[in-house]
Amino acid sequence: MKLVRLIANLGYGNRKEVTRLFREGRVTDPAGEVLYADDRAVHAEIRIDGEPLDPPTGLVLLMHKPTGYTCSRKDAGRLVYDLLPPRWRRRDPALSTVGRLDRDTSGLLLLTDDGALLHRIISPRANVAKVYEATLARDLHGGEGELFESGTLMLESETTPLAPAHLQVLEPRRARLTVTEGRYHQVRRMFAAAGNHVETLERVAIGRLTLDGLASGAWRALAAEEVARVFEPPPLP
Ligand code: URA
Repeated sequence: MKLVRLIANLGYGNRKEVTRLFREGRVTDPAGEVLYADDRAVHAEIRIDGEPLDPPTGLVLLMHKPTGYTCSRKDAGRLVYDLLPPRWRRRDPALSTVGRLDRDTSGLLLLTDDGALLHRIISPRANVAKVYEATLARDLHGGEGELFESGTLMLESETTPLAPAHLQVLEPRRARLTVTEGRYHQVRRMFAAAGNHVETLERVAIGRLTLDGLASGAWRALAAEEVARVFEPPPLP
């Protein structure tokens, strides 16, 4: 790929702006030698104003989503993209959230510019486990586990029952729920169907991947072997 396009696709500017970066001698190799738009150079060997380029495409980010942020590009209010460097919003291919968490849900969120990977994770056929911890308005009555595991629970206005989901009771009003689908407001609606109300909801794992101490609002790029953990079943309680 031509250098101007490679750099423009990373969000550093449109082609005209990136061409100007070359003319101003701001694009160099690691030794500070000026690169020209027609030069050949690999991603890792390019500097802009002395700084390494942003990560190449094929990026997978792990984010600890705080409550109050929306998984959307254009909603009013705070967006999860606001937590990333502003330039990253102009990347092509674009970074997208892998599924969504509600504005009032916190926890583990993945973002990627790899469309095939994204579909592999969210496809219902992939059976990827999403693990949530919920605090509830009322004590659990004891029948929820069987209801969620049954494979027959039908949520309002849906036409197919939910796949079996696994409930682990942590406290009378706290539970961990593992689901393999990603239906709209699924966890909140499941507890509502069981006569309860979710007060707080956090996603704690996807497959075997956890936040592992990542602070609220923070994010980091994942290595390929960390991404692979998404497809492993979470450890049994
Ligand atoms: N289920 C919900 O109800 N909300 C989320 O954000 C994720 C799963």
